Amino acid sequence: MAGERLVLSGDFKVLMDKTIAVLGYGNQGRAQATVMRDNGLNVIVGNVQDEYRRLAEREGFRTYDIAEAAQRADVIMVLLPDEVQPAVMKEVNAAVRGRNVVIDFASGFNVAFGLVELPDSADVVMVAPRMIGAGILNLHRQGKGYPVLIGVEKDVSGRAWDYAVGIAAAIGAIGRPGGIAVKVTFKEEALLDLLDEHTNWPLLFASFMAFFDVATKQYGVPPEAVLLELYASGEMAEVASSMASMGLFEQLRLHSTTSQYGQLSRAFAFYHYVKRLVEKEARQIWLGDFAREWTLEQLAGKPKFKALWEAARSSELARAEDALFRVLGRRQA
Ligand code: NAI
Repeated sequence: MAGERLVLSGDFKVLMDKTIAVLGYGNQGRAQATVMRDNGLNVIVGNVQDEYRRLAEREGFRTYDIAEAAQRADVIMVLLPDEVQPAVMKEVNAAVRGRNVVIDFASGFNVAFGLVELPDSADVVMVAPRMIGAGILNLHRQGKGYPVLIGVEKDVSGRAWDYAVGIAAAIGAIGRPGGIAVKVTFKEEALLDLLDEHTNWPLLFASFMAFFDVATKQYGVPPEAVLLELYASGEMAEVASSMASMGLFEQLRLHSTTSQYGQLSRAFAFYHYVKRLVEKEARQIWLGDFAREWTLEQLAGKPKFKALWEAARSSELARAEDALFRVLGRRQA
Protein backbone atom coordinates (compact mmCIF):
# COMPACT_ATOMS: atom_id res chain seq x y z
CA MET A 1 0.00 0.00 0.00
CA ALA A 2 1.19 3.52 -0.82
CA GLY A 3 0.43 4.58 2.78
CA GLU A 4 3.18 2.30 4.06
CA ARG A 5 5.66 4.57 2.37
CA LEU A 6 4.52 7.63 4.32
CA VAL A 7 6.19 8.69 7.57
CA LEU A 8 4.56 11.54 9.49
CA SER A 9 6.37 11.34 12.80
CA GLY A 10 9.72 10.28 14.17
CA ASP A 11 12.47 11.39 16.51
CA PHE A 12 16.20 11.77 16.34
CA LYS A 13 17.22 9.79 19.45
CA VAL A 14 19.38 7.62 17.19
CA LEU A 15 21.56 10.69 16.50
CA MET A 16 21.89 11.98 20.07
CA ASP A 17 25.31 10.53 20.85
CA LYS A 18 26.72 10.99 17.33
CA THR A 19 29.03 13.52 15.76
CA ILE A 20 27.36 14.79 12.61
CA ALA A 21 29.55 16.31 9.91
CA VAL A 22 27.72 18.56 7.49
CA LEU A 23 29.84 18.79 4.34
CA GLY A 24 29.07 22.10 2.67
CA TYR A 25 27.56 25.25 4.18
CA GLY A 26 25.48 26.46 1.22
CA ASN A 27 21.72 26.46 0.71
CA GLN A 28 21.05 23.11 2.35
CA GLY A 29 24.18 22.81 4.53
CA ARG A 30 23.61 26.03 6.45
CA ALA A 31 19.90 25.34 6.99
CA GLN A 32 20.24 21.69 8.02
CA ALA A 33 23.26 22.32 10.27
CA THR A 34 21.47 25.19 12.03
CA VAL A 35 18.25 23.24 12.67
CA MET A 36 20.18 20.20 13.95
CA ARG A 37 22.26 22.37 16.30
CA ASP A 38 19.06 24.05 17.58
CA ASN A 39 17.78 20.52 18.23
CA GLY A 40 20.74 19.92 20.54
CA LEU A 41 22.78 17.69 18.22
CA ASN A 42 26.57 17.71 17.93
CA VAL A 43 27.18 19.23 14.49
CA ILE A 44 30.50 20.08 12.85
CA VAL A 45 31.04 21.53 9.38
CA GLY A 46 33.44 20.21 6.74
CA ASN A 47 34.25 22.72 4.03
CA VAL A 48 37.00 23.91 1.70
CA GLN A 49 38.56 27.29 2.56
CA ASP A 50 36.10 29.78 1.10
CA GLU A 51 33.46 32.31 2.08
CA TYR A 52 31.00 29.53 3.04
CA ARG A 53 33.48 28.21 5.61
CA ARG A 54 34.03 31.70 7.02
CA LEU A 55 30.24 32.09 7.33
CA ALA A 56 30.00 28.77 9.21
CA GLU A 57 32.75 29.96 11.57
CA ARG A 58 31.08 33.33 12.12
CA GLU A 59 27.84 31.48 12.91
CA GLY A 60 29.62 29.50 15.62
CA PHE A 61 30.30 26.10 14.03
CA ARG A 62 33.55 24.18 14.46
CA THR A 63 34.85 23.84 10.91
CA TYR A 64 37.37 21.41 9.43
CA ASP A 65 38.69 20.42 6.06
CA ILE A 66 36.38 17.87 4.48
CA ALA A 67 38.57 14.80 5.13
CA GLU A 68 39.10 15.72 8.78
CA ALA A 69 35.39 16.37 9.34
CA ALA A 70 34.60 12.95 7.82
CA GLN A 71 37.24 11.33 10.04
CA ARG A 72 35.69 12.86 13.17
CA ALA A 73 32.10 11.99 12.26
CA ASP A 74 29.66 9.12 12.76
CA VAL A 75 27.14 10.66 10.37
CA ILE A 76 28.27 12.47 7.23
CA MET A 77 25.80 14.65 5.36
CA VAL A 78 26.89 15.39 1.81
CA LEU A 79 25.34 18.81 1.19
CA LEU A 80 27.51 19.86 -1.73
CA PRO A 81 26.59 20.59 -5.35
CA ASP A 82 25.98 17.32 -7.21
CA GLU A 83 28.84 17.95 -9.65
CA VAL A 84 31.51 18.21 -6.93
CA GLN A 85 30.35 15.13 -4.99
CA PRO A 86 32.26 12.49 -7.04
CA ALA A 87 35.64 14.09 -6.22
CA VAL A 88 34.73 14.87 -2.60
CA MET A 89 33.45 11.33 -2.00
CA LYS A 90 36.90 9.97 -2.86
CA GLU A 91 38.27 11.99 0.10
CA VAL A 92 35.41 10.87 2.32
CA ASN A 93 35.93 7.21 1.40
CA ALA A 94 39.60 7.39 2.30
CA ALA A 95 38.74 9.09 5.61
CA VAL A 96 36.13 6.57 6.76
CA ARG A 97 37.63 3.35 5.39
CA GLY A 98 36.42 0.32 7.37
CA ARG A 99 34.18 2.31 9.75
CA ASN A 100 30.41 1.85 9.86
CA VAL A 101 29.45 5.51 9.37
CA VAL A 102 26.18 6.81 7.96
CA ILE A 103 26.43 8.78 4.73
CA ASP A 104 23.44 10.93 3.86
CA PHE A 105 22.69 12.55 0.49
CA ALA A 106 20.11 15.27 -0.15
CA SER A 107 19.50 14.09 -3.71
CA GLY A 108 19.52 10.68 -5.36
CA PHE A 109 21.24 11.61 -8.64
CA ASN A 110 24.88 10.60 -8.10
CA VAL A 111 24.14 7.37 -6.26
CA ALA A 112 21.33 6.33 -8.61
CA PHE A 113 23.53 6.68 -11.69
CA GLY A 114 26.74 5.28 -10.16
CA LEU A 115 28.62 8.59 -10.29
CA VAL A 116 30.00 8.37 -6.72
CA GLU A 117 31.95 5.60 -5.01
CA LEU A 118 30.39 4.43 -1.76
CA PRO A 119 32.44 2.89 1.06
CA ASP A 120 31.59 -0.82 1.67
CA SER A 121 31.40 -0.28 5.43
CA ALA A 122 28.90 2.62 5.37
CA ASP A 123 25.14 2.85 5.61
CA VAL A 124 24.01 5.08 2.73
CA VAL A 125 20.76 6.98 3.13
CA MET A 126 18.95 9.85 1.43
CA VAL A 127 16.91 12.64 2.95
CA ALA A 128 15.95 14.88 0.06
CA PRO A 129 14.06 18.03 1.10
CA ARG A 130 11.35 19.38 -1.11
CA MET A 131 12.19 22.80 0.24
CA ILE A 132 14.94 25.36 -0.40
CA GLY A 133 17.36 26.06 2.46
CA ALA A 134 15.88 29.48 3.29
CA GLY A 135 12.43 27.86 3.49
CA ILE A 136 13.73 25.20 5.90
CA LEU A 137 14.99 27.91 8.26
CA ASN A 138 11.78 29.95 8.01
CA LEU A 139 9.57 26.94 8.73
CA HIS A 140 11.86 25.89 11.61
CA ARG A 141 11.41 29.31 13.23
CA GLN A 142 7.62 28.87 12.92
CA GLY A 143 7.76 25.33 14.36
CA LYS A 144 6.55 23.84 11.08
CA GLY A 145 7.75 20.86 9.04
CA TYR A 146 8.08 20.26 5.30
CA PRO A 147 8.16 17.33 2.85
CA VAL A 148 11.20 15.11 2.30
CA LEU A 149 11.80 12.01 0.22
CA ILE A 150 13.81 9.42 2.15
CA GLY A 151 15.60 6.30 0.99
CA VAL A 152 18.17 3.66 1.85
CA GLU A 153 20.78 2.48 -0.63
CA LYS A 154 22.99 0.43 1.72
CA ASP A 155 22.06 -0.95 5.13
CA VAL A 156 25.21 -2.37 6.71
CA SER A 157 24.17 -1.72 10.33
CA GLY A 158 20.59 -2.94 9.90
CA ARG A 159 19.45 0.46 11.20
CA ALA A 160 19.72 2.57 8.05
CA TRP A 161 15.98 3.35 7.95
CA ASP A 162 16.16 4.54 11.58
CA TYR A 163 18.94 6.90 10.56
CA ALA A 164 17.01 8.18 7.52
CA VAL A 165 13.92 8.87 9.65
CA GLY A 166 16.14 10.30 12.44
CA ILE A 167 17.78 12.74 10.03
CA ALA A 168 14.38 13.75 8.62
CA ALA A 169 13.27 14.57 12.19
CA ALA A 170 16.56 16.24 13.12
CA ILE A 171 16.42 18.67 10.18
CA GLY A 172 12.88 19.69 11.16
CA ALA A 173 11.03 17.98 8.31
CA ILE A 174 8.84 15.45 10.13
CA GLY A 175 7.13 15.41 13.51
CA ARG A 176 5.87 18.98 13.01
CA PRO A 177 2.74 20.36 11.29
CA GLY A 178 3.11 20.17 7.51
CA GLY A 179 5.89 17.59 7.74
CA ILE A 180 5.90 14.33 5.80
CA ALA A 181 8.51 11.85 4.56
CA VAL A 182 7.85 9.53 1.63
CA LYS A 183 10.00 6.40 1.22
CA VAL A 184 11.41 6.13 -2.30
CA THR A 185 14.49 4.69 -3.96
CA PHE A 186 17.38 6.96 -4.90
CA LYS A 187 16.48 6.41 -8.55
CA GLU A 188 12.82 7.33 -8.02
CA GLU A 189 13.92 10.55 -6.32
CA ALA A 190 16.28 11.32 -9.20
CA LEU A 191 13.52 10.60 -11.74
CA LEU A 192 11.08 12.98 -10.04
CA ASP A 193 13.64 15.71 -9.58
CA LEU A 194 14.98 15.55 -13.13
CA LEU A 195 11.63 14.94 -14.80
CA ASP A 196 10.27 18.09 -13.16
CA GLU A 197 13.32 19.98 -14.43
CA HIS A 198 13.06 18.45 -17.92
CA THR A 199 9.33 18.88 -18.48
CA ASN A 200 7.37 21.30 -16.27
CA TRP A 201 9.87 24.14 -16.12
CA PRO A 202 11.19 23.99 -19.70
CA LEU A 203 7.61 23.72 -21.01
CA LEU A 204 6.76 26.83 -19.02
CA PHE A 205 9.91 28.63 -20.24
CA ALA A 206 9.28 27.60 -23.86
CA SER A 207 5.65 28.66 -23.60
CA PHE A 208 6.65 32.05 -22.12
CA MET A 209 9.26 32.63 -24.85
CA ALA A 210 6.86 31.71 -27.67
CA PHE A 211 4.04 33.74 -26.05
CA PHE A 212 6.33 36.77 -25.80
CA ASP A 213 7.39 36.55 -29.46
CA VAL A 214 3.87 36.00 -30.80
CA ALA A 215 2.23 38.75 -28.69
CA THR A 216 4.92 41.39 -29.30
CA LYS A 217 5.85 40.64 -32.93
CA GLN A 218 2.62 39.35 -34.47
CA TYR A 219 0.10 41.38 -32.44
CA GLY A 220 2.14 44.46 -31.47
CA VAL A 221 1.39 44.16 -27.73
CA PRO A 222 3.82 46.23 -25.57
CA PRO A 223 6.49 43.92 -24.11
CA GLU A 224 5.89 45.35 -20.62
CA ALA A 225 2.25 44.21 -20.74
CA VAL A 226 3.32 40.76 -21.92
CA LEU A 227 5.89 40.29 -19.14
CA LEU A 228 3.46 41.47 -16.46
CA GLU A 229 0.90 39.01 -17.80
CA LEU A 230 3.39 36.14 -17.84
CA TYR A 231 5.20 36.38 -14.49
CA ALA A 232 6.36 39.87 -13.57
CA SER A 233 3.15 40.75 -11.70
CA GLY A 234 3.70 37.98 -9.14
CA GLU A 235 0.19 36.59 -9.80
CA MET A 236 1.70 33.26 -10.83
CA ALA A 237 3.23 32.86 -7.37
CA GLU A 238 -0.23 33.37 -5.85
CA VAL A 239 -1.70 30.71 -8.15
CA ALA A 240 1.12 28.26 -7.27
CA SER A 241 0.52 28.88 -3.58
CA SER A 242 -3.24 28.24 -4.03
CA MET A 243 -2.45 24.96 -5.84
CA ALA A 244 -0.52 23.80 -2.76
CA SER A 245 -3.21 24.88 -0.28
CA MET A 246 -6.46 24.25 -2.21
CA GLY A 247 -5.53 21.67 -4.86
CA LEU A 248 -4.62 21.83 -8.56
CA PHE A 249 -8.17 21.93 -9.91
CA GLU A 250 -9.99 23.40 -6.89
CA GLN A 251 -7.93 26.61 -7.06
CA LEU A 252 -9.48 27.21 -10.52
CA ARG A 253 -12.56 28.41 -8.63
CA LEU A 254 -10.60 31.58 -7.79
CA HIS A 255 -10.51 32.38 -11.53
CA SER A 256 -13.36 33.57 -13.79
CA THR A 257 -15.51 30.94 -15.52
CA THR A 258 -14.11 32.08 -18.88
CA SER A 259 -10.65 31.38 -17.51
CA GLN A 260 -11.70 28.03 -16.02
CA TYR A 261 -13.18 26.89 -19.33
CA GLY A 262 -10.11 28.04 -21.29
CA GLN A 263 -7.65 26.38 -18.94
CA LEU A 264 -9.47 23.04 -18.62
CA SER A 265 -10.35 22.66 -22.30
CA ARG A 266 -6.77 23.37 -23.41
CA ALA A 267 -5.18 21.26 -20.65
CA PHE A 268 -7.14 18.17 -21.71
CA ALA A 269 -6.47 18.88 -25.40
CA PHE A 270 -2.69 19.32 -24.86
CA TYR A 271 -2.39 16.28 -22.56
CA HIS A 272 -1.68 13.71 -25.28
CA TYR A 273 1.11 15.75 -26.93
CA VAL A 274 2.70 16.53 -23.63
CA LYS A 275 2.46 12.95 -22.35
CA ARG A 276 4.58 11.72 -25.26
CA LEU A 277 7.21 14.31 -24.42
CA VAL A 278 7.14 13.39 -20.72
CA GLU A 279 7.51 9.68 -21.60
CA LYS A 280 10.55 10.41 -23.78
CA GLU A 281 12.24 12.53 -21.10
CA ALA A 282 11.46 9.96 -18.38
CA ARG A 283 13.02 7.19 -20.46
CA GLN A 284 16.18 9.21 -21.05
CA ILE A 285 16.51 9.89 -17.33
CA TRP A 286 15.74 6.31 -16.22
CA LEU A 287 18.23 4.75 -18.65
CA GLY A 288 20.98 7.13 -17.48
CA ASP A 289 21.18 8.99 -20.81
CA PHE A 290 20.80 12.37 -19.15
CA ALA A 291 23.41 11.51 -16.47
CA ARG A 292 25.85 10.66 -19.29
CA GLU A 293 24.94 13.81 -21.28
CA TRP A 294 25.52 16.08 -18.27
CA THR A 295 28.73 14.27 -17.22
CA LEU A 296 30.18 14.65 -20.75
CA GLU A 297 29.11 18.30 -20.87
CA GLN A 298 30.95 18.96 -17.60
CA LEU A 299 34.06 17.10 -18.76
CA ALA A 300 34.09 19.24 -21.94
CA GLY A 301 34.04 22.48 -19.88
CA LYS A 302 30.28 23.10 -20.25
CA PRO A 303 30.31 24.66 -23.79
CA LYS A 304 26.61 23.99 -24.47
CA PHE A 305 25.60 25.18 -21.01
CA LYS A 306 27.47 28.48 -21.54
CA ALA A 307 25.93 28.92 -25.03
CA LEU A 308 22.43 28.32 -23.63
CA TRP A 309 22.95 30.94 -20.92
CA GLU A 310 24.22 33.38 -23.55
CA ALA A 311 21.14 32.75 -25.72
CA ALA A 312 18.88 33.30 -22.69
CA ARG A 313 20.63 36.50 -21.58
CA SER A 314 20.65 38.03 -25.07
CA SER A 315 17.03 37.14 -25.90
CA GLU A 316 14.52 39.90 -26.57
CA LEU A 317 12.50 38.70 -23.60
CA ALA A 318 15.48 39.12 -21.23
CA ARG A 319 16.24 42.57 -22.63
CA ALA A 320 12.62 43.70 -22.28
CA GLU A 321 12.59 42.29 -18.73
CA ASP A 322 15.74 44.25 -17.87
CA ALA A 323 14.15 47.51 -19.07
CA LEU A 324 10.92 46.82 -17.15
CA PHE A 325 12.71 45.80 -13.94
CA ARG A 326 14.75 49.01 -14.01
CA VAL A 327 11.54 51.05 -14.30
CA LEU A 328 10.05 49.06 -11.43
CA GLY A 329 13.23 49.49 -9.31
CA ARG A 330 13.86 45.74 -9.13
CA ARG A 331 17.23 46.21 -10.84
CA GLN A 332 19.73 49.05 -10.61
CA ALA A 333 20.61 51.11 -13.69
P1 NAI B 1 25.31 24.83 -2.71
O1 NAI B 1 25.60 25.21 -4.13
O2 NAI B 1 24.63 25.85 -1.87
O3 NAI B 1 26.69 24.37 -2.02
C1 NAI B 1 27.61 25.30 -1.62
C2 NAI B 1 28.69 24.56 -0.82
O4 NAI B 1 29.46 23.74 -1.70
C3 NAI B 1 29.65 25.49 -0.13
O5 NAI B 1 29.86 25.04 1.18
C4 NAI B 1 30.94 25.37 -0.94
O6 NAI B 1 32.09 25.53 -0.14
C5 NAI B 1 30.84 23.93 -1.44
N1 NAI B 1 31.60 23.72 -2.68
C6 NAI B 1 31.38 24.31 -3.89
N2 NAI B 1 32.29 23.87 -4.78
C7 NAI B 1 33.09 22.98 -4.12
C8 NAI B 1 34.19 22.18 -4.51
N3 NAI B 1 34.67 22.19 -5.76
N4 NAI B 1 34.77 21.37 -3.57
C9 NAI B 1 34.27 21.31 -2.31
N5 NAI B 1 33.24 22.06 -1.89
C10 NAI B 1 32.65 22.88 -2.78
O7 NAI B 1 24.54 23.43 -2.69
P2 NAI B 1 23.01 23.14 -2.34
O8 NAI B 1 22.13 23.88 -3.29
O9 NAI B 1 22.81 23.32 -0.88
O10 NAI B 1 22.88 21.59 -2.72
C11 NAI B 1 23.43 20.60 -1.87
C12 NAI B 1 22.71 19.28 -2.09
O11 NAI B 1 21.34 19.45 -1.69
C13 NAI B 1 22.67 18.83 -3.54
O12 NAI B 1 22.74 17.43 -3.57
C14 NAI B 1 21.31 19.29 -4.02
O13 NAI B 1 20.82 18.50 -5.09
C15 NAI B 1 20.49 19.08 -2.76
N6 NAI B 1 19.28 19.88 -2.65
C16 NAI B 1 19.36 21.23 -2.79
C17 NAI B 1 18.23 22.03 -2.61
C18 NAI B 1 18.35 23.52 -2.59
O14 NAI B 1 17.56 24.16 -1.92
N7 NAI B 1 19.32 24.14 -3.25
C19 NAI B 1 16.91 21.42 -2.34
C20 NAI B 1 16.97 19.99 -2.11
C21 NAI B 1 18.11 19.26 -2.29
